[in-house]
Amino acid sequence: MSTEINGLDTLLMENRKFAPSDECKNQANFNDPGIYERAAKDPEAYWAEQAQHLTWFQPFDQILDWNPPHAKWFLGGKLNAAYNAVDRHRAGSRKNKAAIVWEGEPGDSKVLTYDMLGREVDKAAHVLQSLGVKKGDRVTIYLPMIPELPISLLACAKIGAIHSVVFAGFSAKALRERIIDADSKLLITADAGWRRGGVIPLKTSADDAVADTPIEKILVVERIGQLANAQMMPGRDVYWHELMGQAPHTPFPAEEMDAEDILYMLYTSGTTGKPKGIVHTTGGYLVGANTSMRSVFDIKDEDVYFCTADIGWVTGHTYIVYGPLSAGTTVVMYEGAPDWPNRDRFWEIIEKYGVTILYTAPTSIRTFMKWGPEHIEKHNLDTLRLLGTVGEPINPEAWMWYNEHVGKGRCPIVDTWWQTETGCAMISPLPGITVAKPGSATRPVPGIAAAVFDEQGNPVSPGNGGYLVITKPWPSMLRTIWGDDERFRKTYFGKFPGVYLSGDGARIDEDSDFWVLGRFDDVINVSGHRIGTMEVESALVDHKGVAEAAVIGRTHEVKGQAITAFVTVKEGVQMNTDLATELKQHVVEKIGAIARPEEVIFTAELPKTRSAKIMRRLLRDIAEGRVLGDTTTLADPKVVESLKDLYKHAE
Ligand code: PRX
Repeated sequence: MSTEINGLDTLLMENRKFAPSDECKNQANFNDPGIYERAAKDPEAYWAEQAQHLTWFQPFDQILDWNPPHAKWFLGGKLNAAYNAVDRHRAGSRKNKAAIVWEGEPGDSKVLTYDMLGREVDKAAHVLQSLGVKKGDRVTIYLPMIPELPISLLACAKIGAIHSVVFAGFSAKALRERIIDADSKLLITADAGWRRGGVIPLKTSADDAVADTPIEKILVVERIGQLANAQMMPGRDVYWHELMGQAPHTPFPAEEMDAEDILYMLYTSGTTGKPKGIVHTTGGYLVGANTSMRSVFDIKDEDVYFCTADIGWVTGHTYIVYGPLSAGTTVVMYEGAPDWPNRDRFWEIIEKYGVTILYTAPTSIRTFMKWGPEHIEKHNLDTLRLLGTVGEPINPEAWMWYNEHVGKGRCPIVDTWWQTETGCAMISPLPGITVAKPGSATRPVPGIAAAVFDEQGNPVSPGNGGYLVITKPWPSMLRTIWGDDERFRKTYFGKFPGVYLSGDGARIDEDSDFWVLGRFDDVINVSGHRIGTMEVESALVDHKGVAEAAVIGRTHEVKGQAITAFVTVKEGVQMNTDLATELKQHVVEKIGAIARPEEVIFTAELPKTRSAKIMRRLLRDIAEGRVLGDTTTLADPKVVESLKDLYKHAE
């Protein structure tokens, strides 16, 4: 858990408070502190009021139907997410405003105004329709951060098809698993993507992924061209630019979706080896995304907003696509790595486009700290007015550094706690109201009822920790897990009836502010990305030489957590550096580079309880170099000693 990351510096800095300046307060969209109480008194009324910021084809006639664990929001309402994100702005003064300002890794760039984006989305919707895509069909999208990615999402939304985006860093096998689970007929990918000047061969992965799956067509965006050397299979593979070139230049009518119709599914890791397809619906999700843009990000028409996430994760779905566009914002989208060609790329982008709001991850901030402030100082960042973080607990030191070197002490910081499942920011300061504290996500946003429960389901008293839960339904909550409602029930509502269990631990301080400590389940958070220990273990035991594997997360200075794998091998297999390297590569092939173990530790045995359960806590203690806790339940205590010894010599 990340308590260790937050350790001593948390204690030292807990008392530091940053109240909003008068200037910030006066201009903020949300600046009346009374909003918290009003929303808490009648959350349904609050959300119904926020829902008026969207355009509904037909107004809803019931706000909420709560039949735990199933919620329905805005019943009877009809709307379309792409219409709200794009078309409605085309009709008014935002028609020629920049919607997406895209910066390619090699230095190419493109600006799409709302009207231009709308034309592209309409053409893409025609293309999808010509490929047989209908309302309710699943479309898997495996693209790098190029404009065709948000265009594909929006084209699906326009038709009413359910998009399932798979992060382009995932391997062919991971993509395949997600295609099969979603039962997708169409895959949208690219010939390849750029990463630090290198070519990532996406089409090759797509080819490996789709054999014997329901995929009938692969729509291929040409991002790299010749260099990518992509092979097209006649009859199955079609080029995006060819079909877009033939598509009619006529508006594509937006499908009138029920508020509860599914907008998308997005896979995330859980505690088993099988990823969960988190299901989000149209009305509630969009209300959550749109509201948080106005409240947490204090968005204004003049803003130029830059979220550094990838659209392959939920942060990109909500805070590059649906949130900012539904709010009519100008979004900066960057294709590549922060250190390509130099370590000042983000700052160069901010200066180039006059970015006013920056949203990034603590792991990036810690990387920038390591690189040193000189890369920032080369650029004028005077346009910035608000900073955000997401993905993992931010250690107060990184918060202070972000404040000083990026915000120059004048930009409020919103530390936003949320999850794939919650759809939008749940615990976060509102920049014009809330007193921020480095390391604390502070308090639930208006309309959200969060609490920290003890084992019995009672709220803990100030100063104590426990399970971070949400006690009331909220519009952008997940509705289920694709194809597995029972897992949805058990995972999120199985511990405390009617109460959403987040999987995170948190502590409440004397001011009732929340300090998120990290996951308490078998999920690791590496550089802000969720990886299930079971997924990595399954990948390892899939290797012919491995008998058993146990995977844990240990504290890492930059990544937050790093993956340590403890492995026992089969009879006659040599435990050596070559095998360790091979195993790491095997995990990369099974899941993707994000899951590569930092170290592989070979051991003759894994510490187990007498009932043969692997003692992960003990492994974590060994990896962290901590004093061992109670080992009395251990079957063979000698194992621990030899493991400790091995860890010192790990690869
Ligand atoms: O552990 C929490 C951490 O990220 C998890 C959610 O991961 P994912 O669904 O991939 O979504 C990431 C982006 C929303 C949470 O369970 N987390 C996210 N934001 C924070 C955080 N932990 C502490 N502070 C945050 N601000």
